[in-house]
Amino acid sequence: MKLADNKATLSFSNGSPSVEMPVYQGNIGPDVIDIRKLYAQTGMFTYDPGFLSTASCQSGITYIDGDKGELLYRGYPIEQLATNVDYLDTCHLLLKGELPNATERVDFHKLVTNHTMVNEQMQFFLRGFRRDAHPMAVLTGLVGALSAFYHDSTDINNPEHREIAAIRLIAKMPTLVAMAYKYGVGQPFMYPQNDLSYSGNFLRMMFGTPCEEYKVNSVIERAMDRIFILHADHEQNASTSTVRLCGSSGTNPFAAIAAGVACLWGPAHGGANEACLNMLEDIQRQGGVSKVGQFMEQVKDKNSGVKLMGFGHRVYKNYDPRAKLMQETCNEVLEALGLENDPLFKLAKQLEKIALEDDYFVQRKLYPNVDFYSGIVQRAIGIPVNLFTGIFALARTVGWIAQLNEMIGDPEYKIGRPRQLFTGSVKRDVKPLDQR
Ligand code: SDX
Repeated sequence: MKLADNKATLSFSNGSPSVEMPVYQGNIGPDVIDIRKLYAQTGMFTYDPGFLSTASCQSGITYIDGDKGELLYRGYPIEQLATNVDYLDTCHLLLKGELPNATERVDFHKLVTNHTMVNEQMQFFLRGFRRDAHPMAVLTGLVGALSAFYHDSTDINNPEHREIAAIRLIAKMPTLVAMAYKYGVGQPFMYPQNDLSYSGNFLRMMFGTPCEEYKVNSVIERAMDRIFILHADHEQNASTSTVRLCGSSGTNPFAAIAAGVACLWGPAHGGANEACLNMLEDIQRQGGVSKVGQFMEQVKDKNSGVKLMGFGHRVYKNYDPRAKLMQETCNEVLEALGLENDPLFKLAKQLEKIALEDDYFVQRKLYPNVDFYSGIVQRAIGIPVNLFTGIFALARTVGWIAQLNEMIGDPEYKIGRPRQLFTGSVKRDVKPLDQR
């Protein structure tokens, strides 16, 4: 970051001395006011629950322009990546800062492929869960448990450990997600098959069985890969911030990523795709398109607590570029599967049309986000609704690792330890029981 030719001066109406703070600028995006010395100089904290106006770090990985609806991974527009490269190329880009050349591409794909198996002991963790356990509960456990198997790569301050842990996590997440799915449906786990692509291998571990050869459908393979690319990273979102804060204690990368999985599960974040599909199915059950108007009234009624899931975003105040690409992928997959008339897809498009013309949404700049269409295409592929967020976690693992490694690689990083505005009881003495 570089000093801007600007400074911030904070003055106080009570006559306290004003404070001058440096302003830094990035290569693109908003400048930042450096408040690191504020507490020492004023004895006061800033106050920003939800971090609406707070930059927690400097980063060179992903840039979002919320007003333009623009998303760049290491400078490349998501629209170009989603149509010109595959997910493992995107992983190479996010981790190393550049797309791989032909040789690097072969080496990186091979490296990941050779780490897709998990230790045979991992399967016994699943037996502790009920068969109907939510896959995100299972995944949070499995990812955290990985740290028990790799004592040779848990020193997060060792660059080699960070490198091999990154490869292991990217390679093993599809295997773990597929195991969580197979355990739920009572089918045998499928071992990875090294002659398949990353996405093809995932589809086979999900839908293949030992009873017959599994043929990868190339349209679905490409759609799966694009879903992974679209979910790979997204600046300092809630789960990435969780991974950074967790990793700042020096814990091992597996534990930090497990914390990210747990945070992503929430319906306001990665759990929104599952919540969105459930919302569409509810409306469909109640009458479909004819019930959209009534549903929208509920959404606009503050007391209903009903939100249009898959809509709105803290940063995007324009159309989420990933939602557009996801809608295209929806069209491709539904066409390839002869499901063009999928009622939920029609319903989603009708909801979007009505919302984008409705003042409530226009005023609040609420547009479809990545989760609005992703559930429809995953459902068409045959992925169960309760696994949607697991797929999101699979794809986001590379983003979490890239962001964690960027933080750990910054010699200036410190353990994250926010302060508070205390509004509880001031000091008081314990009274004897008979006086309480
Ligand atoms: C992801 O951060 C990321 O980058 C996340 C993500 C990623 O890739 O990591 O992009 C992935 O999590 C996408 C978001 C998925 N979540 C949902 O689709 C859930 C529904 N969306 C909302 O919960 C909400 O829009 C959030 C949580 C996404 C954003 O919330 P904010 O920024 O805190 O905004 P807000 O809740 O203050 O909303 C502003 C106004 C409020 O109304 P008023 O109080 O001004 O009258 O808009 C309303 C909200 O009630 N609003 C909605 C709404 N989202 C916001 N009203 C109806 N339906 C919605 N979906």
